Amino acid sequence: MKAVVVEQYDIIDNIPLRDIAVPDVAADQVRVKVQAASIGFVDGLKVQGLYQTKDALPFTPGTEFAGVVDAVGSGVTGFAPGQSVMGMTRSGALAEYIAVQAAVLTPVPDGIAPEAAAAFRANYLTALYALSERGSLKAGEILLVLGAAGGVGIAAVQVGKLMGARVIAAASTEEKRQFAASHGADATVDYTQANWRDALKDLTGDHGADVIYDPVGGEVSVQAFRSIAWNGRHLVVGFAAGKIPALPFNLPLLKGGVLTGVDIAQIARREPEAEKRVTAQLLTWLNEKKLVPVVGQVFDLADFRDAFKTMQTRAALGKMVVRIG
Ligand SMILES: NC(=O)c1ccc[n+]([C@@H]2O[C@H](COP(=O)([O-])OP(=O)(O)OC[C@H]3O[C@@H](n4cnc5c(N)ncnc54)[C@H](OP(=O)(O)O)[C@@H]3O)[C@@H](O)[C@H]2O)c1
Repeated sequence: MKAVVVEQYDIIDNIPLRDIAVPDVAADQVRVKVQAASIGFVDGLKVQGLYQTKDALPFTPGTEFAGVVDAVGSGVTGFAPGQSVMGMTRSGALAEYIAVQAAVLTPVPDGIAPEAAAAFRANYLTALYALSERGSLKAGEILLVLGAAGGVGIAAVQVGKLMGARVIAAASTEEKRQFAASHGADATVDYTQANWRDALKDLTGDHGADVIYDPVGGEVSVQAFRSIAWNGRHLVVGFAAGKIPALPFNLPLLKGGVLTGVDIAQIARREPEAEKRVTAQLLTWLNEKKLVPVVGQVFDLADFRDAFKTMQTRAALGKMVVRIG
Protein backbone atom coordinates (compact mmCIF):
# COMPACT_ATOMS: atom_id res chain seq x y z
CA MET A 1 0.00 0.00 0.00
CA LYS A 2 1.02 3.63 -0.36
CA ALA A 3 1.82 5.43 2.89
CA VAL A 4 3.55 8.61 3.97
CA VAL A 5 6.56 7.48 6.00
CA VAL A 6 8.62 9.67 8.33
CA GLU A 7 12.02 7.94 8.37
CA GLN A 8 13.74 10.88 10.03
CA TYR A 9 12.18 13.99 11.56
CA ASP A 10 12.32 16.61 8.84
CA ILE A 11 10.49 19.36 7.00
CA ILE A 12 7.55 18.10 4.98
CA ASP A 13 9.32 18.60 1.62
CA ASN A 14 11.71 15.79 2.59
CA ILE A 15 9.09 13.28 3.79
CA PRO A 16 8.49 10.47 1.23
CA LEU A 17 5.49 8.50 0.04
CA ARG A 18 6.49 4.79 0.16
CA ASP A 19 5.12 1.38 -0.81
CA ILE A 20 4.87 -0.63 2.41
CA ALA A 21 3.06 -3.76 3.58
CA VAL A 22 -0.65 -3.60 4.40
CA PRO A 23 -0.89 -3.91 8.22
CA ASP A 24 -2.03 -7.19 9.79
CA VAL A 25 -5.12 -7.20 11.99
CA ALA A 26 -4.70 -8.27 15.64
CA ALA A 27 -7.57 -9.96 17.48
CA ASP A 28 -8.77 -6.69 19.04
CA GLN A 29 -8.28 -4.61 15.87
CA VAL A 30 -10.14 -3.51 12.80
CA ARG A 31 -8.40 -2.75 9.51
CA VAL A 32 -9.85 0.18 7.62
CA LYS A 33 -9.38 1.07 3.97
CA VAL A 34 -8.79 4.77 4.42
CA GLN A 35 -10.77 7.11 2.16
CA ALA A 36 -9.73 10.41 3.73
CA ALA A 37 -7.40 11.63 6.46
CA SER A 38 -7.15 15.12 7.90
CA ILE A 39 -4.17 17.12 9.06
CA GLY A 40 -3.90 19.39 12.06
CA PHE A 41 -1.24 21.75 13.36
CA VAL A 42 0.11 19.02 15.64
CA ASP A 43 0.78 16.70 12.66
CA GLY A 44 2.98 19.42 11.17
CA LEU A 45 5.02 19.51 14.38
CA LYS A 46 5.20 15.71 14.72
CA VAL A 47 6.84 15.08 11.33
CA GLN A 48 9.57 17.52 12.31
CA GLY A 49 10.01 15.98 15.78
CA LEU A 50 8.96 19.30 17.33
CA TYR A 51 5.87 18.10 19.22
CA GLN A 52 6.00 17.57 22.99
CA THR A 53 5.84 13.78 22.48
CA LYS A 54 7.82 12.13 19.66
CA ASP A 55 6.61 9.16 17.60
CA ALA A 56 9.24 6.42 17.27
CA LEU A 57 10.78 6.29 13.77
CA PRO A 58 9.74 5.23 11.24
CA PHE A 59 6.08 6.25 11.50
CA THR A 60 3.20 7.24 9.28
CA PRO A 61 1.68 10.57 10.32
CA GLY A 62 -2.01 11.38 10.45
CA THR A 63 -4.30 10.91 13.42
CA GLU A 64 -7.80 11.32 12.00
CA PHE A 65 -9.36 9.30 9.21
CA ALA A 66 -12.53 7.93 7.70
CA GLY A 67 -12.96 4.88 5.50
CA VAL A 68 -14.51 1.47 5.07
CA VAL A 69 -13.92 -1.58 7.28
CA ASP A 70 -11.72 -4.03 5.38
CA ALA A 71 -11.06 -6.77 7.98
CA VAL A 72 -12.18 -7.45 11.55
CA GLY A 73 -10.07 -9.12 14.27
CA SER A 74 -11.33 -12.39 15.77
CA GLY A 75 -12.17 -10.76 19.12
CA VAL A 76 -14.05 -7.76 17.75
CA THR A 77 -17.83 -7.45 17.66
CA GLY A 78 -19.94 -4.59 16.32
CA PHE A 79 -18.02 -3.94 13.09
CA ALA A 80 -18.34 -5.66 9.72
CA PRO A 81 -16.51 -5.37 6.39
CA GLY A 82 -17.96 -2.66 4.17
CA GLN A 83 -19.11 -0.48 7.07
CA SER A 84 -18.23 3.24 6.97
CA VAL A 85 -16.24 4.31 10.03
CA MET A 86 -14.23 7.25 11.31
CA GLY A 87 -11.51 7.24 13.93
CA MET A 88 -8.76 9.04 15.76
CA THR A 89 -5.48 7.41 16.72
CA ARG A 90 -1.91 8.35 17.52
CA SER A 91 -0.53 8.01 13.98
CA GLY A 92 -0.87 6.03 10.75
CA ALA A 93 -3.77 7.70 8.97
CA LEU A 94 -1.90 8.96 5.89
CA ALA A 95 -1.92 5.50 4.32
CA GLU A 96 -4.21 3.38 2.20
CA TYR A 97 -4.93 1.03 5.13
CA ILE A 98 -4.75 1.41 8.91
CA ALA A 99 -5.23 -1.20 11.63
CA VAL A 100 -6.58 0.22 14.91
CA GLN A 101 -8.23 -0.87 18.15
CA ALA A 102 -11.96 -1.21 17.56
CA ALA A 103 -12.55 1.21 20.46
CA VAL A 104 -11.24 4.21 18.48
CA LEU A 105 -13.78 3.73 15.68
CA THR A 106 -17.25 5.20 15.34
CA PRO A 107 -19.76 4.43 12.56
CA VAL A 108 -20.19 7.35 10.17
CA PRO A 109 -23.78 8.62 10.14
CA ASP A 110 -25.60 8.41 6.78
CA GLY A 111 -25.03 11.35 4.49
CA ILE A 112 -21.65 12.40 5.94
CA ALA A 113 -18.90 12.27 3.29
CA PRO A 114 -15.56 10.62 4.20
CA GLU A 115 -13.79 14.01 3.91
CA ALA A 116 -16.14 15.53 6.49
CA ALA A 117 -15.99 12.47 8.75
CA ALA A 118 -12.18 12.64 8.69
CA ALA A 119 -12.33 16.28 9.79
CA PHE A 120 -14.72 15.69 12.67
CA ARG A 121 -13.19 14.15 15.73
CA ALA A 122 -10.31 16.22 17.16
CA ASN A 123 -11.42 19.73 16.31
CA TYR A 124 -15.01 19.38 17.46
CA LEU A 125 -14.04 17.48 20.59
CA THR A 126 -11.61 20.29 21.38
CA ALA A 127 -14.19 22.99 20.70
CA LEU A 128 -17.07 21.50 22.68
CA TYR A 129 -14.92 20.25 25.55
CA ALA A 130 -13.31 23.69 25.82
CA LEU A 131 -16.51 25.70 25.56
CA SER A 132 -18.78 23.51 27.70
CA GLU A 133 -16.62 21.69 30.22
CA ARG A 134 -13.84 24.28 30.72
CA GLY A 135 -15.55 27.51 29.68
CA SER A 136 -19.12 26.90 30.92
CA LEU A 137 -20.33 28.90 27.93
CA LYS A 138 -23.99 29.85 28.30
CA ALA A 139 -26.57 30.82 25.69
CA GLY A 140 -26.53 34.57 25.15
CA GLU A 141 -22.92 35.02 26.24
CA ILE A 142 -20.30 36.60 24.00
CA LEU A 143 -17.70 34.19 22.65
CA LEU A 144 -14.52 35.55 21.06
CA VAL A 145 -12.76 32.97 18.86
CA LEU A 146 -9.15 33.76 17.94
CA GLY A 147 -7.75 32.16 14.77
CA ALA A 148 -11.38 31.61 13.86
CA ALA A 149 -10.78 30.34 10.31
CA GLY A 150 -8.29 27.65 11.41
CA GLY A 151 -9.22 24.03 12.11
CA VAL A 152 -10.06 24.24 15.82
CA GLY A 153 -11.16 27.86 15.40
CA ILE A 154 -13.89 27.25 12.85
CA ALA A 155 -15.11 24.31 14.93
CA ALA A 156 -15.50 26.66 17.92
CA VAL A 157 -17.45 29.14 15.78
CA GLN A 158 -19.94 26.42 14.83
CA VAL A 159 -20.14 24.87 18.29
CA GLY A 160 -20.47 28.29 19.94
CA LYS A 161 -23.46 29.06 17.73
CA LEU A 162 -25.03 25.67 18.52
CA MET A 163 -24.66 26.53 22.21
CA GLY A 164 -26.50 29.81 21.67
CA ALA A 165 -23.59 32.22 22.10
CA ARG A 166 -23.01 35.43 20.18
CA VAL A 167 -19.82 34.59 18.30
CA ILE A 168 -17.17 37.14 17.34
CA ALA A 169 -14.54 35.69 15.01
CA ALA A 170 -11.02 37.14 14.99
CA ALA A 171 -8.87 36.38 11.96
CA SER A 172 -6.05 37.93 9.97
CA THR A 173 -7.50 38.34 6.48
CA GLU A 174 -10.81 39.40 4.96
CA GLU A 175 -11.10 35.98 3.29
CA LYS A 176 -10.68 34.25 6.64
CA ARG A 177 -13.18 36.55 8.35
CA GLN A 178 -15.73 35.91 5.61
CA PHE A 179 -15.10 32.19 5.94
CA ALA A 180 -15.89 32.41 9.67
CA ALA A 181 -19.00 34.49 8.97
CA SER A 182 -20.16 31.95 6.40
CA HIS A 183 -20.01 29.31 9.14
CA GLY A 184 -22.11 31.31 11.57
CA ALA A 185 -19.98 34.02 13.23
CA ASP A 186 -22.21 36.98 14.13
CA ALA A 187 -19.40 39.51 13.76
CA THR A 188 -15.73 39.55 12.85
CA VAL A 189 -12.66 41.49 13.85
CA ASP A 190 -9.22 41.90 12.27
CA TYR A 191 -6.89 41.18 15.18
CA THR A 192 -3.81 42.13 13.20
CA GLN A 193 -4.82 45.80 13.54
CA ALA A 194 -3.24 47.75 16.40
CA ASN A 195 -6.66 49.05 17.49
CA TRP A 196 -8.55 45.76 17.24
CA ARG A 197 -9.60 45.94 20.88
CA ASP A 198 -11.48 49.15 20.11
CA ALA A 199 -13.35 47.33 17.35
CA LEU A 200 -14.14 44.57 19.82
CA LYS A 201 -15.31 47.13 22.35
CA ASP A 202 -17.67 48.60 19.78
CA LEU A 203 -19.04 45.13 19.06
CA THR A 204 -19.58 44.18 22.73
CA GLY A 205 -20.73 47.56 23.99
CA ASP A 206 -18.04 47.77 26.70
CA HIS A 207 -19.01 44.36 28.05
CA GLY A 208 -16.01 42.42 26.66
CA ALA A 209 -15.91 38.71 25.84
CA ASP A 210 -17.44 36.28 28.33
CA VAL A 211 -15.42 33.42 26.86
CA ILE A 212 -12.22 33.70 24.82
CA TYR A 213 -11.22 30.61 22.84
CA ASP A 214 -7.51 30.92 22.09
CA PRO A 215 -5.59 28.49 19.82
CA VAL A 216 -3.18 31.25 18.74
CA GLY A 217 -1.03 32.49 21.64
CA GLY A 218 1.58 35.22 21.32
CA GLU A 219 0.90 38.88 22.05
CA VAL A 220 -2.67 38.65 20.81
CA SER A 221 -3.55 36.45 23.80
CA VAL A 222 -2.60 39.09 26.34
CA GLN A 223 -4.49 41.74 24.38
CA ALA A 224 -7.54 39.49 24.25
CA PHE A 225 -7.41 38.90 28.01
CA ARG A 226 -7.46 42.68 28.49
CA SER A 227 -10.85 42.60 26.74
CA ILE A 228 -12.37 39.85 28.89
CA ALA A 229 -15.72 40.46 30.59
CA TRP A 230 -16.07 40.36 34.40
CA ASN A 231 -16.21 36.65 35.37
CA GLY A 232 -14.95 35.84 31.87
CA ARG A 233 -13.06 32.64 30.98
CA HIS A 234 -10.00 32.64 28.70
CA LEU A 235 -9.44 29.15 27.27
CA VAL A 236 -5.82 28.27 26.45
CA VAL A 237 -6.11 25.90 23.48
CA GLY A 238 -2.82 26.29 21.61
CA PHE A 239 0.04 28.42 20.36
CA ALA A 240 -0.23 28.43 16.57
CA ALA A 241 1.60 31.78 16.48
CA GLY A 242 4.57 30.00 18.02
CA LYS A 243 5.11 32.13 21.10
CA ILE A 244 3.82 31.16 24.53
CA PRO A 245 2.52 34.38 26.06
CA ALA A 246 3.14 35.50 29.64
CA LEU A 247 0.07 36.98 31.31
CA PRO A 248 0.73 39.67 33.95
CA PHE A 249 -0.89 38.39 37.16
CA ASN A 250 -2.58 41.71 37.85
CA LEU A 251 -4.89 41.22 34.87
CA PRO A 252 -7.01 38.36 36.29
CA LEU A 253 -7.35 40.47 39.46
CA LEU A 254 -8.36 43.66 37.63
CA LYS A 255 -10.65 41.90 35.17
CA GLY A 256 -12.19 39.31 37.48
CA GLY A 257 -11.34 36.81 34.76
CA VAL A 258 -10.10 33.23 34.72
CA LEU A 259 -7.35 31.67 32.61
CA THR A 260 -7.96 27.97 32.09
CA GLY A 261 -6.26 25.23 30.09
CA VAL A 262 -7.69 22.79 27.54
CA ASP A 263 -5.97 19.54 26.52
CA ILE A 264 -7.97 16.85 24.80
CA ALA A 265 -4.97 14.52 24.86
CA GLN A 266 -5.51 14.12 28.60
CA ILE A 267 -9.27 13.92 28.92
CA ALA A 268 -9.72 10.20 28.19
CA ARG A 269 -7.52 9.52 31.25
CA ARG A 270 -8.46 12.42 33.52
CA GLU A 271 -12.10 13.09 32.66
CA PRO A 272 -13.56 10.05 30.88
CA GLU A 273 -17.11 11.04 31.81
CA ALA A 274 -16.65 14.50 30.28
CA GLU A 275 -15.25 12.93 27.11
CA LYS A 276 -18.28 10.61 26.87
CA ARG A 277 -20.68 13.51 27.43
CA VAL A 278 -19.03 15.72 24.85
CA THR A 279 -18.70 12.93 22.28
CA ALA A 280 -22.35 11.94 22.71
CA GLN A 281 -23.49 15.53 22.18
CA LEU A 282 -21.32 15.91 19.08
CA LEU A 283 -22.62 12.67 17.57
CA THR A 284 -26.20 13.76 18.27
CA TRP A 285 -25.60 17.04 16.44
CA LEU A 286 -23.87 15.17 13.63
CA ASN A 287 -26.74 12.69 13.26
CA GLU A 288 -29.29 15.51 13.34
CA LYS A 289 -27.23 17.36 10.68
CA LYS A 290 -27.11 20.38 13.00
CA LEU A 291 -23.34 20.10 12.83
CA VAL A 292 -21.61 19.59 9.49
CA PRO A 293 -17.82 19.33 9.88
CA VAL A 294 -16.04 21.97 7.86
CA VAL A 295 -13.75 20.58 5.19
CA GLY A 296 -11.18 23.15 4.16
CA GLN A 297 -9.15 22.18 1.12
CA VAL A 298 -8.94 18.60 -0.15
CA PHE A 299 -5.66 17.22 -1.59
CA ASP A 300 -4.79 13.92 -3.28
CA LEU A 301 -2.40 11.62 -1.42
CA ALA A 302 0.34 12.40 -3.98
CA ASP A 303 0.01 16.07 -2.97
CA PHE A 304 0.04 15.51 0.81
CA ARG A 305 2.97 17.94 1.19
CA ASP A 306 0.80 20.76 -0.14
CA ALA A 307 -1.78 20.03 2.54
CA PHE A 308 0.87 20.46 5.25
CA LYS A 309 2.40 23.52 3.59
CA THR A 310 -0.94 25.28 3.19
CA MET A 311 -1.47 24.95 6.93
CA GLN A 312 2.11 25.77 7.89
CA THR A 313 2.13 28.98 5.83
CA ARG A 314 -1.02 30.26 7.57
CA ALA A 315 -2.93 29.98 4.29
CA ALA A 316 -5.45 27.32 5.37
CA LEU A 317 -9.16 27.90 5.65
CA GLY A 318 -10.53 25.18 7.94
CA LYS A 319 -9.08 21.71 8.23
CA MET A 320 -6.82 20.29 5.49
CA VAL A 321 -7.99 16.90 4.21
CA VAL A 322 -6.12 14.33 2.12
CA ARG A 323 -8.29 12.07 -0.08
CA ILE A 324 -6.80 8.57 -0.21
CA GLY A 325 -9.16 5.85 -1.43
N1 LIG B 1 -5.57 21.99 23.43
C1 LIG B 1 -5.98 21.02 22.64
O1 LIG B 1 -6.51 20.02 23.09
C2 LIG B 1 -5.76 21.20 21.17
C3 LIG B 1 -6.43 20.38 20.24
C4 LIG B 1 -6.21 20.62 18.87
C5 LIG B 1 -5.34 21.65 18.47
N2 LIG B 1 -4.71 22.38 19.42
C6 LIG B 1 -3.78 23.48 19.06
O2 LIG B 1 -4.53 24.51 18.46
C7 LIG B 1 -3.67 25.26 17.61
C8 LIG B 1 -4.34 25.45 16.26
O3 LIG B 1 -4.47 24.19 15.61
P1 LIG B 1 -5.23 24.08 14.22
O4 LIG B 1 -5.12 22.66 13.78
O5 LIG B 1 -6.56 24.72 14.30
O6 LIG B 1 -4.27 24.98 13.29
P2 LIG B 1 -4.63 25.86 12.01
O7 LIG B 1 -5.77 25.26 11.27
O8 LIG B 1 -3.36 26.07 11.29
O9 LIG B 1 -5.14 27.25 12.62
C9 LIG B 1 -4.31 28.06 13.38
C10 LIG B 1 -4.71 29.51 13.23
O10 LIG B 1 -3.81 30.29 14.03
C11 LIG B 1 -3.59 31.53 13.44
N3 LIG B 1 -2.19 31.93 13.45
C12 LIG B 1 -1.69 33.04 13.99
N4 LIG B 1 -0.37 33.11 13.81
C13 LIG B 1 -0.01 32.01 13.13
C14 LIG B 1 1.24 31.55 12.63
N5 LIG B 1 2.37 32.22 12.83
N6 LIG B 1 1.24 30.38 11.95
C15 LIG B 1 0.11 29.68 11.75
N7 LIG B 1 -1.10 30.09 12.22
C16 LIG B 1 -1.16 31.25 12.89
C17 LIG B 1 -4.11 31.47 11.99
O11 LIG B 1 -5.20 32.37 11.88
P3 LIG B 1 -4.99 33.89 11.42
O12 LIG B 1 -4.18 33.88 10.15
O13 LIG B 1 -6.37 34.35 11.24
O14 LIG B 1 -4.25 34.56 12.53
C18 LIG B 1 -4.60 30.03 11.81
O15 LIG B 1 -5.84 29.98 11.13
C19 LIG B 1 -2.34 24.50 17.56
O16 LIG B 1 -1.43 25.12 18.45
C20 LIG B 1 -2.72 23.13 18.05
O17 LIG B 1 -1.63 22.47 18.65
C21 LIG B 1 -4.89 22.18 20.74
